[in-house]
Amino acid sequence: MQTLVTGASRGIGLELVRQLAARGEAVHAAVRDPDSTALRAVAGVTLHRLDVNDDASVASLARELADTPLDLVINNAGVYGGSQQSLRGVDYADAAKTYETNALGPLRVSLALLPNLRRGAGKRLAHITSGMGSIADNTSGGFYSYRMAKAALNMMSRSLAVDLRGDKIISVVVNPGWVQTDMGGPGAPTPVAESARGILRVIDEATLVDSGEFLDYKGGRYPW
Ligand SMILES: NC(=O)c1ccc[n+]([C@@H]2O[C@H](COP(=O)([O-])OP(=O)(O)OC[C@H]3O[C@@H](n4cnc5c(N)ncnc54)[C@H](OP(=O)(O)O)[C@@H]3O)[C@@H](O)[C@H]2O)c1
Repeated sequence: MQTLVTGASRGIGLELVRQLAARGEAVHAAVRDPDSTALRAVAGVTLHRLDVNDDASVASLARELADTPLDLVINNAGVYGGSQQSLRGVDYADAAKTYETNALGPLRVSLALLPNLRRGAGKRLAHITSGMGSIADNTSGGFYSYRMAKAALNMMSRSLAVDLRGDKIISVVVNPGWVQTDMGGPGAPTPVAESARGILRVIDEATLVDSGEFLDYKGGRYPW
């Protein structure tokens, strides 16, 4: 198995890479600053420089990978949208950056790495979304930038699932829970290792029947 994980410098992405490497799999860890990452010494991990918002950076990653087959691409990199995203005011520059990173970034990466996924046997694309991207689950409002960007990511995944059916490539969004990371904060109930374990399990178990669906790290479907 060869997997590529974006946003692998810390948090959920870092833990996904660690767990995949511990399984003895080859992992391509994509980070914005490969010089400062905790992954430098982990066996089985190849580091790549990647800013998902930068066309040239994504093209450079695709060139580095060249003919390397990929079984799984996990679009994990994301941002929270800043402190101003409520009725009191929205920072529209932050909102645009959040859409760029959380929705357009995963699209850019997915399309650039399609040739690698077509060569691989695993044929899986997984995008780390959020319960906050669920329209059905939104009973508390607010968080405009983040919620809107993750809802857009969810739509992207469904379109990829439809468009890639002929290639038998699965595309799913996975809710990681509320997780103890820089983004989730120390008050989050879910340890990062538990979230990453659950994410990998649901991705491993996903079949073409699940393609286009919204999965939960605990298993089963999350409401749209
Ligand atoms: N934590 C939660 O409770 C929670 C809940 C639901 C969903 N999620 C989602 O889970 C994913 C991971 O979150 P996390 O909690 O691990 O967040 P985190 O600790 O803040 O880490 C975010 C990661 O994304 C990377 N990143 C941000 N912008 C990027 C860009 N333009 N290009 C490449 N990498 C970029 C960061 O890299 P740098 O180190 O270079 O900044 C970092 O590796 C995100 O998509 C997030 O929305 C998290």
